[in-house]
Amino acid sequence: MIKKSEQSSKTEQTQNYYNGIASGYKNLYHEEQILKLNYVKDLFPKSGLCLDAGCGDGVLNQFINSNVKLYSFDLSVELLKLNSNGSTRKFCGSLTDLSIFENNKFDFISCFSVIQDIFDFELVFDEFVRVLKAGGTLFLSFVKFSSKKDLILEKINNSSVFEVLESYEENKDLIFVLKKKL
Ligand SMILES: C[S@@+](CC[C@H](N)C(=O)[O-])C[C@H]1O[C@@H](n2cnc3c(N)ncnc32)[C@H](O)[C@@H]1O
Repeated sequence: MIKKSEQSSKTEQTQNYYNGIASGYKNLYHEEQILKLNYVKDLFPKSGLCLDAGCGDGVLNQFINSNVKLYSFDLSVELLKLNSNGSTRKFCGSLTDLSIFENNKFDFISCFSVIQDIFDFELVFDEFVRVLKAGGTLFLSFVKFSSKKDLILEKINNSSVFEVLESYEENKDLIFVLKKKL
């Protein structure tokens, strides 16, 4: 059982960490995140609504076709400020609560190197299931050396909602392309 106070203090720690490193994020992370996104970039739909879940400073922008309506969501307001895509809609909050979005809203969700940081990542899965359309795709990566790796894999492999279309192992992350069943 996770205590609410423990959950919010972990979230605050993560938020403070990413706000603190925001100005150096590009130098620290872009190169490795681009390598990861390259695995799946050709599978991204060319239109529809996309949730960039845990968008950081918006490294995904360069991979998304201009016909896609992008929603950029992150815990760190400082990283969101650095997202220079003028046409994306920006939201600050925790992925454990996506109640600002209605059910079945998005055609695809991209969530790269985020959920291993989230104390109660299972809530995030539930929210992804809720806001993704049937037949929609979740592009998901997480750090393979994370202590949560086995729990996340179990969640994916035991899911009655998602079908695994593709999976890749790269240097730091495991990457999955998951389709929400019809
Ligand atoms: C390693 S960065 C990856 C960012 C981006 N996906 C990329 O590929 O560059 C992890 C991101 O997850 C965000 N994050 C961590 N916990 C979160 C939460 N509970 N809700 C929303 N975003 C969160 C952080 O603020 C940070 O921007």
